Amino acid sequence: MKVLSVVGARPQFVKLAPIASAAAEAGVEHLIVHTGQHYDPLLSDVFFEDLSIPKPTVHLGVGSGSHGVQTGAMLGAMDAVLDEHRPDWVLVYGDTNSTLAAAVSAVKLHFKVAHLEAGLRSFNRRMPEEHNRVLTDHAADLCLAPTEVAMRHLADEGLADRSIVVGDVMTDVLYQVRDRVLAADAVGLPGYAAGEYYLATIHRAENTDDPARLRAILESLGRLDRPVVVMAHPRLVAKCAEHGIPLEQGALLAHPPLRYPDLVAATMSSAGVVTDSGGLQKEAFLLRVPCTTVRTETEWVETVELGWNRLAADPADVAAAVARPRPADTDAEPYGDGRAAARVIAALSEWSAG
Ligand code: UD1
Repeated sequence: MKVLSVVGARPQFVKLAPIASAAAEAGVEHLIVHTGQHYDPLLSDVFFEDLSIPKPTVHLGVGSGSHGVQTGAMLGAMDAVLDEHRPDWVLVYGDTNSTLAAAVSAVKLHFKVAHLEAGLRSFNRRMPEEHNRVLTDHAADLCLAPTEVAMRHLADEGLADRSIVVGDVMTDVLYQVRDRVLAADAVGLPGYAAGEYYLATIHRAENTDDPARLRAILESLGRLDRPVVVMAHPRLVAKCAEHGIPLEQGALLAHPPLRYPDLVAATMSSAGVVTDSGGLQKEAFLLRVPCTTVRTETEWVETVELGWNRLAADPADVAAAVARPRPADTDAEPYGDGRAAARVIAALSEWSAG
């Protein structure tokens, strides 16, 4: 069996790591196509180094652009790649423009598509990621759901007979990296005492593209009661510069994006996380660090139901959410047991035959 993974953005490199190693363990031929959506070394290359991911077989070098330009460039480039490598499965990850482009290219050329992290829904049609998810799930031959909630969404949309729950591959990689960080005694963020800082990331279009909203979010972070280390995604830096909004104000301190092991280490000893990232909400929960999410909704509803995540769509609500009492301990495992990637590879073999 030949599996061709298509990735392009930071969270996809994290999910790719356990898949690449599960494929190698199972003796499955695995090729990697990097679309080039993320090209900054800190958003791309360091993940391949730190998570021991094999080098991509193909790099499309697409880079940034408006949605249509970026997605279209990937779509145009994928045809020749698929024609040359003729995989049994095209595996696409999550909800980015790279995911959608690869899925559309593959189904049109009659290559089987499996969608990892299928069935997530925000039900917010203003999010570019929501269109990417829905369209990819409906194009896919196999939907690999991370949770029971995601599986229910797929069933509600009539996709139950091509969907299965495999667990969340981000849990696999997070647990492995957490154990490495603990073994190396590397918990923490250099320069900051444990429990004395918050970790923040803001990058989603819905939070960065309206200058009034971006300004209000950063002001609310700047007023928190401890240093807030904001790991600045290029989109955030670019939008702040464009609109003349200071990234460092009050308690806010800008920090370049962290490498994955450093992010895990820094999260573990933070007093809390404030974010609009999908992955970090879940990582905080898995590390049992309280999270506040600056969005109107989340796809990872389990984190909210279990009390470890609180939504603060209005920047005025961030401080109260951050100051809430520590949530009750739980041993719930809504995101699986850390062995999802092996299940993904097994499912691909099984569904190849069918
Ligand atoms: C993309 C995903 C989002 C995901 C995020 C993770 C889509 C629609 N969005 O958002 O779901 O959570 O990745 O980070 O696919 N830029 C750089 N260097 C880079 C990459 C981007 O400077 O390496 C700049 C671009 O010039 C652009 C901005 O960041 O101005 C946005 O990049 P883009 O890849 O379009 O989307 P993200 O915001 O990263």
